[in-house]
Amino acid sequence: MIHLLPTRFAPCVTGYPWSMTTSAAPTDVITVLTHEHNEVEGMFAQLENMDGATDAEVQRLAEQVVTSLVKHSVAEEIYLYPTVREVLPGGDEIAEHELSEHSEAEQTMKHLEALTPESPEFWPTLHKLIGEIRHHVTEEEQGLFPKLRAACSQEQLEDLGRKIERVEKIAPTRPHPAAPSEGSALAAVAPGAGLVDRVRDALSGRGR
Ligand SMILES: [Fe+2]
Ligand SMILES: [Fe+2]
Repeated sequence: MIHLLPTRFAPCVTGYPWSMTTSAAPTDVITVLTHEHNEVEGMFAQLENMDGATDAEVQRLAEQVVTSLVKHSVAEEIYLYPTVREVLPGGDEIAEHELSEHSEAEQTMKHLEALTPESPEFWPTLHKLIGEIRHHVTEEEQGLFPKLRAACSQEQLEDLGRKIERVEKIAPTRPHPAAPSEGSALAAVAPGAGLVDRVRDALSGRGR
């Protein structure tokens, strides 16, 4: 018996001929995103070792966590979740669920960025964020990524990985407003915007 997939579940297609995007060191999207999850988890572990501290290093690490997470989230929203919608059965529902978790975490990050480590709300908010992200990462790594690997060719996964690495290079590397990265797109973003909005705008092109 021949089973025909509906066209919306057609094999992974990301919009460009594969030959247009060659790279000396191909890295597939799942490897790129898993590596970023691990980097953030490393920062979470460092922060948990400083639990309750109020020094500048805590502030610096928390800002680095927020910058990394927003950068990662925007890249997933631009390239990963549209592909999920396109190639996976039930992909729309999966993508909507993941997006709602991004939105929830982003609200927690906006709350966190308004606090300093001296605030009584800082550590509870940071722990809330860590819990939300760990839950989300587990879902992606144990649920979504294996499905995506089964639905896409290695070449297609590498094409997506390159696109994600490319878009993330636009992101600011320094989280503090007083220390923007060189040639930063942040200059065009409204003064007074919070860290989450500045990173998101720099990546998504809003404010440029
Ligand atoms: Fe995600
Ligand atoms: Fe992720």
